[in-house]
Amino acid sequence: MLVCVPNVLSKSDVADFRRIMDGCDWEDGRSTAGAQSALVKRNEQLPPDSEIARRLGNRVVSALTANPRFISAAIPLQIFPPLFNRYAAADGHRFGIHVDNAVRGDHLTGLRIRTDLSVTLFLSEPEEYDGGELVVEDLYGSHEIKLSGGDLVVYPASSLHMVTPITRGTRVASFFWLQSMIRDAHARSLIFDLDTAIQALVERLGRDDPETVKLTGIYHNLIRYWAEV
Ligand code: NI
Repeated sequence: MLVCVPNVLSKSDVADFRRIMDGCDWEDGRSTAGAQSALVKRNEQLPPDSEIARRLGNRVVSALTANPRFISAAIPLQIFPPLFNRYAAADGHRFGIHVDNAVRGDHLTGLRIRTDLSVTLFLSEPEEYDGGELVVEDLYGSHEIKLSGGDLVVYPASSLHMVTPITRGTRVASFFWLQSMIRDAHARSLIFDLDTAIQALVERLGRDDPETVKLTGIYHNLIRYWAEV
């Protein structure tokens, strides 16, 4: 399941992130790549342990945890400290097809997670660059994703994915992984669909409609049944 979440960051936050990041030193993106992905990864990253990456990462996490659609889609247990990358046409940047590492450890915080979901938060506008699409493969085929600055996509970390070669401009993004309380992707998808339907019913019938209350109970009981906390 791929879920897009619009307006996680406001345009003024995106502009502020970009201004701060423009003044930073960047390093080779292969510093955080696994053995296979290092072979196909060509981009730059903010040094993951740098104070500025952590500070911006905390701002991203605060925005995520305040976003109902993101929480509903991901049901996060632990969010890995967000990383930041950029792809520049001048340097022929790209990231070939790969699967993300199954487990990620952060040596600064000691956090270790199973990567159930991958997230890309776009920090460039689509018209700033050509190429640089995130391509995610799932059971239903291959999906090309290029969102507005401040929007994000959540997709299964188990999926093969890539970033196509960038041919004009610069693409800046934040990316990270999370461990969900709901490990099973199908169960997580059912819960998300149920929640989305309940929210629509609440809009139409109000929160105290008896059947809506029952469905809300079923929603929580399914989480109770499936959640690992
Ligand atoms: Ni990846």
